[in-house]
Amino acid sequence: MSSPLAIHGGPPVLRTMAPQVPWPPIDINTAVAVTAQLYNAVSLPGRTGVVAELEIRLAEFFGVRHAVVTSSGTAALHSAYAALGLADGDEVIVPAYTSHATATPLLHLRAKPVLVDCDELGNLDPERVRAAITPFTKAIVATHMWGVPARIEALADLARQHGIALVEDGSHAHGAAIGGQRIGTFGSIAAFSTGGSKPLSGGEGGFVLTDDDDLYYRVLLHGQDGSRCRSEIPIDHPLRRYALTGTGLAHRMHPLAAALTLGQLGELDRRLGGRRQIAARVITELRELPGISVPEVPGRYAPSWYAVPLLHRPEELGGLPVDALVAALRAEGCLEVDHPRAPRPLNEHPLFDAPNRLFPNLPEGWPRYRPGQYPRAERRHRNTLTLKVPHNDPELADGYIRAFRKVITHHRTLIGPD
Ligand SMILES: Cc1ncc(COP(=O)(O)O)c(C=O)c1O
Repeated sequence: MSSPLAIHGGPPVLRTMAPQVPWPPIDINTAVAVTAQLYNAVSLPGRTGVVAELEIRLAEFFGVRHAVVTSSGTAALHSAYAALGLADGDEVIVPAYTSHATATPLLHLRAKPVLVDCDELGNLDPERVRAAITPFTKAIVATHMWGVPARIEALADLARQHGIALVEDGSHAHGAAIGGQRIGTFGSIAAFSTGGSKPLSGGEGGFVLTDDDDLYYRVLLHGQDGSRCRSEIPIDHPLRRYALTGTGLAHRMHPLAAALTLGQLGELDRRLGGRRQIAARVITELRELPGISVPEVPGRYAPSWYAVPLLHRPEELGGLPVDALVAALRAEGCLEVDHPRAPRPLNEHPLFDAPNRLFPNLPEGWPRYRPGQYPRAERRHRNTLTLKVPHNDPELADGYIRAFRKVITHHRTLIGPD
């Protein structure tokens, strides 16, 4: 029997300080690139300099015609939805389990989010989507939760059959792929966040991808600078007359964020390769343990593992509450494990139950969403533990595995007497 749990005063498995998986990785090249940008230009309204370079490199990386960088993932989603013309009462199928930001821009456009429950990997369930399509459905939005690809081919088929748009929210899944095809290239348009510790991160930011010229011009008009719209929208295009003002929003990416993102992009595939190897080892080892389910991802799927989502099975651990499990793991020094409060099922947010207080001009008959309506999403959220895995530190990952083994072996000591 190993030593007592650290939460009970035993020695912890790991003594590595936080952050154990610093992301994005910052090295001397990052510092040089960002500092050079500081002296070069800190405002780039047009498609020039580092903004142009990043967009060209993103378009190459994803193999699409157009990439537009934005101030955030929310701005990217807002621009994508506006470009599709989603408006007044249009129904848009959105995963019940996703970031609220996947759906909130729809409220600004008065388009109706229709929530659909998730499949066994936590992503939009194509069968449930099929059942939710009505004559008013204009688009399906798929998130690839925690970097595990959604069943996007089935969703693309459905969208095609019904003549509606497929939008990907790739915010967790930069560099993820199915059968070699990158996430972000399965629908008519895709939006990504590059904020925080997203697989591709510039600290704050986002981008939109599309192959469609018209959608591209509309994305530009939604939030990019007038000078840029004037130089890119053809003189004979019907939307060209709006170039100077666009819709009046400002969604431009900061050049320093662009410099940071550009440096990360060149390293992304290599780093994700390392992350996938380590994730595979962690998953293989944790699969053997009671009380935890690991994601069983089809062989054609290459996740980006924004985090490895593990499902707590309290019934196999004497009813051990998820927070007690996380507290014990963190005490063992497993600091990258979390029971995330967000993203959470959208029906649990007051905003989707009573949006009128913040959006007073929504049409009559707006759907109200309440806790209890999306049992799969809610169960998944309640029981999800996320584990951030490093791309280059197998010893740390071994420590995580030992910490999980130790805590689960001793789980009875975490449960109080009846
Ligand atoms: C799935 C998803 N979509 C959109 C967003 C919004 O991105 P941002 O915070 O850059 O606006 C997030 C943010 O975490 C997210 O997780």
